[in-house]
Amino acid sequence: MPNLLESNQLGGRKLQRVVYTEEVIHNRIQEMGVEISAAYGPDDRLLLVGLLKGSFLFVADLVRAIDLPLQVDFLVAASYGARKKSSGDVRLLYDPEASLKDRAVILVEDIVDSGATLNRLVPLLEARGPSSLEVCALLHKRLVTLDREPRWVGFDAPKDFLVGYGLDYAENFRHLPYIASL
Ligand code: IMP
Ligand code: MG
Repeated sequence: MPNLLESNQLGGRKLQRVVYTEEVIHNRIQEMGVEISAAYGPDDRLLLVGLLKGSFLFVADLVRAIDLPLQVDFLVAASYGARKKSSGDVRLLYDPEASLKDRAVILVEDIVDSGATLNRLVPLLEARGPSSLEVCALLHKRLVTLDREPRWVGFDAPKDFLVGYGLDYAENFRHLPYIASL
């Protein structure tokens, strides 16, 4: 791990410190899997919807920690620059193929920052008539209170810009098995 830290310099940005090691992430996700498994039953038709791209590793590890029948889908939402944050508009570039109607849906997000993404996506998915809709976020910076707080949060994260384990800086660093600050 330390040699990756040394070598991962891109765009003049250098990793500062490892915030969550691979082992710490793994252990926390196993715990979250147990909690989620206890919260639903086998007849709930559980559907995990991962928000791409950032959640791709988290979803992959989380579903393997859940001991229930479930299905997996993803969605891609267009993200607007900070300048357009208040446009109130969220565009889905890829919409889940699976119907959400009468299913127990968990929206899986990598990190909650301003909360804008979740505040817009939750009502949009809610309108599709799931029997329940919960949010599961690996990281939460606790900068804001969301309209609907995630029921499951992996870690209360530092306010730093974080990369690795799915999180990117200009599309780089997503593959790192740990989470580091830039
Ligand atoms: P929000 O809508 O401001 O809550 O931000 C949500 C999205 O911004 C996340 O899904 C991430 O893709 C991205 N993001 C926010 N904070 C970070 C960070 O510290 N590192 C990498 N991506 C981030
Ligand atoms: Mg991102």
